[in-house]
Formats: sequence, structure tokens, C-alpha cells
Amino acid sequence: MSSSNLQISGLGKRYGDFVALAPTHLDVARGEFLTLLGPSGSGKTTLLSLIAGLAQPDEGRVLIDGADVTHGAPYERDIGMVFQNYALFPHMSIEENIVFPLKMRKVPAAEARRRAMEALEMVRLPHVAARLPRELSGGQQQRIALARCMVYRPAIILMDEPLGALDKKLRDQMQLEIKRIHRELGTTIVYVTHDQEEAMTMSDRICLMNGGAIEQLGTPADLYFRPRTLFVADFLGESNLLKAEVASVDGDVLSVRLAHQGVTGQALSNGAPIKAGQKVTVMLRPQNLRVGTSGAGLTGRLLDVMVTGSLTKLYLDSGVADAEPIVVAYPTQRQAEQYAIGQPLVVSWQAADAVAISE
Ligand SMILES: Nc1ncnc2c1ncn2[C@@H]1O[C@H](COP(=O)(O)OP(=O)(O)OP(=O)(O)O)[C@@H](O)[C@H]1O
Ligand SMILES: [Mg+2]
Repeated sequence: MSSSNLQISGLGKRYGDFVALAPTHLDVARGEFLTLLGPSGSGKTTLLSLIAGLAQPDEGRVLIDGADVTHGAPYERDIGMVFQNYALFPHMSIEENIVFPLKMRKVPAAEARRRAMEALEMVRLPHVAARLPRELSGGQQQRIALARCMVYRPAIILMDEPLGALDKKLRDQMQLEIKRIHRELGTTIVYVTHDQEEAMTMSDRICLMNGGAIEQLGTPADLYFRPRTLFVADFLGESNLLKAEVASVDGDVLSVRLAHQGVTGQALSNGAPIKAGQKVTVMLRPQNLRVGTSGAGLTGRLLDVMVTGSLTKLYLDSGVADAEPIVVAYPTQRQAEQYAIGQPLVVSWQAADAVAISE
């Protein structure tokens, strides 16, 4: 991942008065797997369409390898696209479907056929070459759509919710498949999803979007462990968000007093400037909390226990009006201690696992 492959500079799009994408800057490195993540309507598809040339921006530029392609036609850009609805040609065989983009690029027939078979090997479906799309499952069709996009080796592949229509198990398999192909080909990928788990597993970096603008851009770990805003903390993974006030600041380490029971403790800053006396929200991930029947910490009554497969989750009422229950999670074990509903429990954590988000 050396030079930047795709540069987006002040790119913006409006529909009438509505700002679908505020002027946005984004650099994607060669070979990077970048995911656009965000709620419905946050501008993910808009940004992707502007990169692909399927929509025209009102301002800003798109550069590929330094060349300005902002107003070029889609086919003039070295870009492949895979959509949620794979849109294979129904009357063509799988092989003909994959050969099609090569034919359009005037690749000789024998060479096109050889490369199509190679692409089919890549998605592990060489045996379906002669079939029609309707003779394949949804997951297989999506793999063919991927093969059809890879076959002409674009430098950049854009994917808009490519796994959205698949069931959970198939999604998991396809995620691994796409990662493997990305590793083997070294293609730059810009991937759109609104599934935060998918974004976390797949990406080198995540660009979290909100209301037509970038909310935070960074590695999955950056966003997960150092959210810059409450929106990020809330969107990525489950979290307990507790109101607090900063008592003192020592570099990156803050002493905080929680509104919950006046409990004091330490938390790390999220990188934003902060001063004593400031109100913050302390983020605690459920799996970083420990629970016991005595000791120092936050006390809560056990409301509910849920076994969600690999994790067991405890919900505690902290007694604070209007506060969400505190969630504690730990790996499910047959031998785990049994707690009774209504029982008071003490929750504690390590300073390094608490992050203060300034408001
Ligand atoms: N052609 C259009 N005309 C008017 N408004 C549009 C048009 N295309 C998109 N929008 C609006 O722009 C906003 C961003 O849309 P976009 O499709 O980029 O969202 P998204 O993040 O891809 O959402 P989703 O997760 O639902 O696909 C939405 O509010 C949408 O209604
Ligand atoms: Mg979309």
C-alpha cells in the first residue's frame, strides 16, 4: 500500500436543496480495502456512484493514479463494480456472462475464454461454466458477478452491499472469499455495507459516514477503541455509554466521576482536546467489564441473563433514572457462575478499557 490510487477531493453532490454528500476528501491507497459504513441514507451509494462515474458531482474531483477522471465516462475509468443484485444476463451461459466484458474490450476469443476459466477457478466454480444463471444459487450467482468484475483486472473494484441478499452463513463464506481474492490480486477495493461486523472483519480502514459526511476514518481498531464521537461509539459494536465529568487530566489519562453513583475512576481520552470540569461520556465495551458479588465498582441489580451463543450477557439496572441497563458480556461456559435475577452485582473495569468521549 504505497501511493494513493484513488483521490477524492472536495467531492459533493446535491439533489435540489438536499445535500446527499457534503464536500468530501478521501485518499485510498493502492491495494487497500476501504469500507464505507453508515446508516441508510448516509451517502454511501452516492459516493460510490460519483467514483464510478454513474452520477455527476456538483463540486470536487476524482483522481485515479493522479489523472482527473471527474467528468470522464464510467468505461474510461479503470474500475469494476459489483452490486447487491448481481444482474447477470439471464439468457447467457455463465461463461458467456464472464466473457462479455472482455468482448467489449476487444480481447480475442481464445484469450477471453482462457481468462474467463481462470476467473471461474478464482471463485471456485469452474464446473458451472455451461449453466444458465437461474441454475445457480444466490451465493453462486454473486460469486459469478465477482468473477465477471475481476476478469478484466480493473485497478479498483467498487462493491455496493454485494452480500446484502445472502443469508448469514453464505455471507460469512463470501466475506472470506472476497478477502482471499483481494489478497491474491492486490486490487484496491472500496466496499459499501451498513453491517458493522462485516466492516470490522473485512477492512484495512473504515470510513464511517453519517448524514452525507465522513464521521470518522481509520482502522477498525481506531474506530472501535478510540471513537471520536458518540455516533461512532454507538454505531460500532455494543457499548455502555455513561455520563461523567472530568476531574483531572494527565496527558491521555483522565480521572472521571461517573453520574452513576458518583463512582470515580480513570479513562483514556479519545484524542480530542479536553479540560478538567468538562462533561464527557465514558464508553465501556460489555466484554471489558468484570462482574462480581463484592468489591469496588458500579453496583446494579441483575435484570436479565441472555445466552447469545458464544457470549453470555448480563443486563443490570444501575438505579439511575432514564439510564440504559448496563450490559456485561463474557464467553459462554457450562461452568459459569449462576446469578439470580434481582441480585445486586458489582461491575468493574480497567482504566485502559474506558474511553472518554467529549460532548
Ligand atoms: N436521485 C436522487 N434524488 C434525490 N435524492 C437522492 C437521490 N439519490 C439519493 N438521494 C438521497 O441521498 C441520500 C443518500 O443516499 P444514498 O443512496 O447515498 O444512501 P446510502 O448510504 O447508500 O443508503 P442505503 O444504506 O440505504 O443504501 C438519501 O437521503 C437519498 O434519499
Ligand atoms: Mg446504498
